[in-house]
Amino acid sequence: MIFARRTTAPSPERIARLIGLGSYLPPRKVSNADLMSRLDTTDEWIRTRIGIAERRIAGPATATSDLAVEAGLRAMKSAKAEHVDAVVLATATPDHHVPGTAPLVAHRLGLRQVPAFDIGAGCSGFVFATTVAAGLIHAGTAGTVLVIGAEKMSAVIDPADRSTAPIFGDGAGAVVLTTGRADEPGALGPAAWGSDGEHADAIHIPDGGSRRPSHTTGDLKNQYVHMKGNEVFRHAVRRIAQVTQESATAAGWAVQDIDRLIVHQANARISAAVAGKLGIPPERVPSNITHVGNTSAASIPLLLSHSALDGQLKAGQRVLVTSFGAGFTWAATTLLWPAGLQALA
Ligand code: UT7
Repeated sequence: MIFARRTTAPSPERIARLIGLGSYLPPRKVSNADLMSRLDTTDEWIRTRIGIAERRIAGPATATSDLAVEAGLRAMKSAKAEHVDAVVLATATPDHHVPGTAPLVAHRLGLRQVPAFDIGAGCSGFVFATTVAAGLIHAGTAGTVLVIGAEKMSAVIDPADRSTAPIFGDGAGAVVLTTGRADEPGALGPAAWGSDGEHADAIHIPDGGSRRPSHTTGDLKNQYVHMKGNEVFRHAVRRIAQVTQESATAAGWAVQDIDRLIVHQANARISAAVAGKLGIPPERVPSNITHVGNTSAASIPLLLSHSALDGQLKAGQRVLVTSFGAGFTWAATTLLWPAGLQALA
């Protein structure tokens, strides 16, 4: 079987450079004990099988765009940028099917008529969006781009499904990328990415799209995420390890050179298995899943933001971000951590 895999190779004179980082979590915490009051589950099972103690859940009046605006504002403030040339928003939970969520976010950020569009690549969405944004910069189409990953997963998770409800949470993170040189701090390296639609039904929402419009079906359960957890787990470990290796090789790094591996926060056991497979010591693999759960496309920028604030990301470190999600999709990219970057949360 042939798997689609492409690796971009930016010109060293016009690559994307990280200059701003921000994140936002809705204030309401939902603990495992809260879930135990309505689900047949235990705190111990959720902690040991997934690594989560609590997640943030947005209120009914909050949509994905509201989370995205908060993260976008913080990233632009962090970058000291008043304007950007484009907004790329990764989400699996857009406010509406139509229109895209990014134009609304750009409007609310006061960015006038900049091009703004959504990217849907499941939990890999943020790294896909970053790769597309880096391509815009590389091609000279945009000089500075705001890239956001935002999700209101609670809108598509069945609160009565114990195989998904403990896992997912809401939140948003964002970065600002601008034109730079390959040897500059903050420089993004080449990306490795791919997909395999053979496993499209491993994580999916059966109804509500053009295949089965919601007005033609009666089963509300089919408007929630359905996930084959074991199958996803197995593929996630293999693909994340593989795409991490590909991204490191494309950057001219050995896996041992990676100072910090920023892995999509799907399950603490997935991150540990990937690190073990690659021989990366656990202290080089930061994590925030215990407190935020799996926030899908928001996971990577939230972890970057929290790790920067915790002092786990330091100037000059070789950082590799790597992800896997519905589709299946997978993507990874390298960067040299910039000096003086103040993350805002
Ligand atoms: O972001 C990308 C997308 N998502 C992922 O990457 C998620 C990948 N998958 C996973 O993280 C894991 O597969 C899950 C966390 C979803 C499930 O963990 P698992 O270790 O694969 O559990 P399992 O489905 O194999 O179930 C093991 C046992 C079963 O009981 P028996 O048959 O062994 O008696 C389940 O019924 O655990 C039971 N179980 C639960 N028990 C308490 C399943 N869910 C729960 C629960 N609480 N919430």
